[in-house]
Amino acid sequence: MKQEVATKKVFIRTLGCQMNFRDSEIVKGLFIKDGYKLVDSEEEADIIIFNTCSVRQHAEDRAVNNMALLMKRFDKKIFGLIGCVAQHKKDELFKRLPKLDFICGPSNIYDIPVAIKNVLSNREKINFTSNIIREDKEYSVLYREPKKQAFVNITYGCNNFCSYCIVPYVRGPLVSRPTEDILREVEDLTKQGIKFVILLGQNVNSYFYNSKKYKKVDFIKLLKFVCSIDGIEKINFTTNHPKDTKVELFKTISKLEKIERYLHLPMQSGSNRILKLMNRGYTIERYKKLVKAYRDICCGKLSTDIIVGFPTETDKDFNMTKEAILEIKFDNAYIFKYSPRPPAESSKIKDDVPKNVKEERHKILLDLQKKISLSLKCQS
Ligand code: 5AD
Ligand code: SF4
Repeated sequence: MKQEVATKKVFIRTLGCQMNFRDSEIVKGLFIKDGYKLVDSEEEADIIIFNTCSVRQHAEDRAVNNMALLMKRFDKKIFGLIGCVAQHKKDELFKRLPKLDFICGPSNIYDIPVAIKNVLSNREKINFTSNIIREDKEYSVLYREPKKQAFVNITYGCNNFCSYCIVPYVRGPLVSRPTEDILREVEDLTKQGIKFVILLGQNVNSYFYNSKKYKKVDFIKLLKFVCSIDGIEKINFTTNHPKDTKVELFKTISKLEKIERYLHLPMQSGSNRILKLMNRGYTIERYKKLVKAYRDICCGKLSTDIIVGFPTETDKDFNMTKEAILEIKFDNAYIFKYSPRPPAESSKIKDDVPKNVKEERHKILLDLQKKISLSLKCQS
């Protein structure tokens, strides 16, 4: 017997970054609007959706393998795989997961209810991955997870093409949201009792919108506007790109009490040769100068991202990263083993750092950072 849409129960598992967390909220909002019920487990659900991450091969494999296991357990349910892996692998996923009903890329998430309606009416495979440029409609969708802080997208996509990174290929080119929409969304959040917002973008420093009302708005101007909203007490933003982060931003932060003194500034490597191969657009010297300016002006905490085992990384390059970590003393560092991500540019260079060397370098930096984080915590 065919069930009515209104009685269908949906479970969404979110993997990956804050952008995916926010996208899942948007999708949940669409389901609620259409009368579906959200549930907290795969067992209870009629429809199981994974919102996936493709930044590293391991994350992609885990998502596909976990979904395959669920398909064995629940062969009557509807399965959807959305997000970056859907955009990256497209139709190939239907071969790897024969019971998969639909896929939807990050710029197609507003089409998910339509995809499900099509699946329910004729159970054909649906592939919604044709949009690469994200359209901005989410202001109208109001589901939020019950949390103290709320994420607010300010940009979608990325134009930077760091050589290791798949994001520009799966999330498309940079699109800045209209300033009016961002401010209205933050104001609405304050009415729901939210006092802490985190502004989201792959490179927030490249936000730019030519607004009818506010004219030319860059990231610093946007921050000032968000700070001026009554009811908002705390603001943070992520991620910053060192090539576009200006000392002026630190001066602005120092004048705006609501901005949290915790900056995430991905360094990626301490070797200029590797930074160049990564197409990061800065040197380690410039990075250190930026860190000094931030600490002098804002007296804030600092976190970073590091990749070990990038193609051709020698012991000498790795030691430069180690030295930079020792010198800078980050409050926190996320350390990743390099994973080739075709069609990203670096996948054309031979992945020549052996797995055991990557693992060793990864462990060395994790241990080092643990010690640094602990000693900084003891000092404060
Ligand atoms: N391999 C390993 N780490 C990666 N990151 C992005 N792409 C890759 C990759 N191909 C890391 C970067 C980025 C963080 C979100 O993930 O450090 O800042
Ligand atoms: Fe990827 Fe670089 Fe864009 Fe970040 S700035 S999303 S690392 S391409």
